Amino acid sequence: MSKNFDVVVIGGGPGGYIAAIRAAQLGFNTACIDEWKNDKGGPAPGGTCTNVGCIPSKALLQSSEHFEHAGHGFAEHGIEVKGLNLDLGKMLGRKNTVVKQNNDGILYLFKKNKVTFFHGRGSFAKGDASGYEIKVAGATEESITAKHVIIATGSNARALPGTPFDEQLILSNTGALAITEVPKKLGVIGAGVIGLEMGSVWRRLGAEVTVLEALPAFLGAVDEQIAKEAQKLLTKQGLNVNLGVKIGEIKAGKKSVTVEYTDSKGAAQKGEFDKLIVSIGRTPNTIGLNAEAIGLKLDERGFIAVDGDCKTNLANVWAVGDVVRGPMLAHKAEEEGVAVAERIAGQHGHVNFNTIPWVIYTSPEIAWVGKTEQQLKADGVAYKAGTFPFLANGRARALGDTSGMVKFLADAKTDEILGVHIVGPMASELISEAVVAMEFRASAEDIARICHAHPSLSEATKEAALAVDKRALNF
Ligand code: FAD
Ligand code: NAI
Repeated sequence: MSKNFDVVVIGGGPGGYIAAIRAAQLGFNTACIDEWKNDKGGPAPGGTCTNVGCIPSKALLQSSEHFEHAGHGFAEHGIEVKGLNLDLGKMLGRKNTVVKQNNDGILYLFKKNKVTFFHGRGSFAKGDASGYEIKVAGATEESITAKHVIIATGSNARALPGTPFDEQLILSNTGALAITEVPKKLGVIGAGVIGLEMGSVWRRLGAEVTVLEALPAFLGAVDEQIAKEAQKLLTKQGLNVNLGVKIGEIKAGKKSVTVEYTDSKGAAQKGEFDKLIVSIGRTPNTIGLNAEAIGLKLDERGFIAVDGDCKTNLANVWAVGDVVRGPMLAHKAEEEGVAVAERIAGQHGHVNFNTIPWVIYTSPEIAWVGKTEQQLKADGVAYKAGTFPFLANGRARALGDTSGMVKFLADAKTDEILGVHIVGPMASELISEAVVAMEFRASAEDIARICHAHPSLSEATKEAALAVDKRALNF
């Protein structure tokens, strides 16, 4: 096996494995090192996303939504379900199978693209612009060299100070995806993306869920109108979201956790939970890289410092994904991975940060791209807004899910689309049209003039674009 590579990628998550495939496609002799182990100690490439993130969370969101529909949604369609039963073991088993299919898929893609895979931890031994020596500590220890190195070592869940994760009672995303008995009472600290997604899963399966959020506003980064609507809908489902709280002491007993906190009115409160998920953000992972050995620069928050092109302070060392600035999203990591491989090949790799979509996979889903109304106001940009509710969409009525809306924000003068915000059914799929439109710098009128299939949810997108010019047809 070759030990000298043109490109070595450290980390096999969406940033790393995609960078490796693209580098190999471009003709580089490429290796990817990843240390993630499956329950048998074997390789499990795909990183956080595949093992304890995007994929398993979406598998459980789907299963739990089916369970909720069977229990509460089917009756209105004239379907009676008797003797409904939850086999949580089977549900978790299915999730694990989906994860394994993705792990295996990546190993297959490495073979197909002739990427050499190393299972173990990669760390820098020494190096300079002429090449880098990297130690791989796996079942055996070996040394490989690379002309170019792409670091894609991802992120880890952030713990509350003094409250480490034990993954039994105090859970990070890893434990939250593997609870073997539905907790009666589940506490969630942080009403961000993970808190809302995992809170939804366990609420649907029968837990009483209390979410404790420090900020006074619900989903502060989301367009306010959309966030308000989402808060209303999720609260109606039974998710108990408490904003503006200050977390005090957390005590783990044998079978439960107590959380002392001050509520938004300043009153002391205490919650007792069977499990506690702490989802207060993630920290970049540079553990074990031995970055000091080569003088790799980190920023003040511990991220690898990079420029707009993902170049680090060292020649031919690049970094992508969660370990660098920007949103912690799998598709952002992938785009950066592709762009870096292309830059190494002398091409003009490109990532447009203005058109990275966000999706929160609650029900209804929340998705957006571009600027929020509050950002446009703060920037002093003159804009027009158009909204269209799913209540007035025929397909949504037929589906039996009429919650939410589509909202367009367009430049007041040029009509260029500046942001699109959706809370509603299949928002994750609908947002793609807005991303394409914004990438091509389309106007709201462009979308309004495009023929959309009937009956489809996408007609709500067209109608919201028409509403920018105050001429929605069905509302
Ligand atoms: P990672 O996926 O973290 O991969 C890094 C890899 O590097 C890991 O396999 C790690 O073991 C390995 N590694 C680290 N150090 C070394 C070393 N020294 N040597 C060898 N290997 C090393 N994003 C979305 O876009 N959509 C979603 O729906 C979504 N859902 C999520 C749900 C949850 C619960 C969580 C926690 C995250 C979710 N994310 C989602 C975020 C997404 O998972 C991350 O943005 C993405 O995984 C980042 O990719 P990455 O390649 O930068 O890092
Ligand atoms: P997050 O940043 O989305 O939310 C963290 C929340 O915790 C914030 O609302 C914050 O105000 C709150 N918080 C912070 N400290 C607190 C404290 N001491 N007490 C109470 N509340 C506190 O982070 P989260 O949910 O941990 O997810 C991490 C990242 O993973 C996300 O930002 C996202 O990038 C990614 N992710 C993406 C998903 C998707 O794309 N669908 C799904 C899940 C995660």
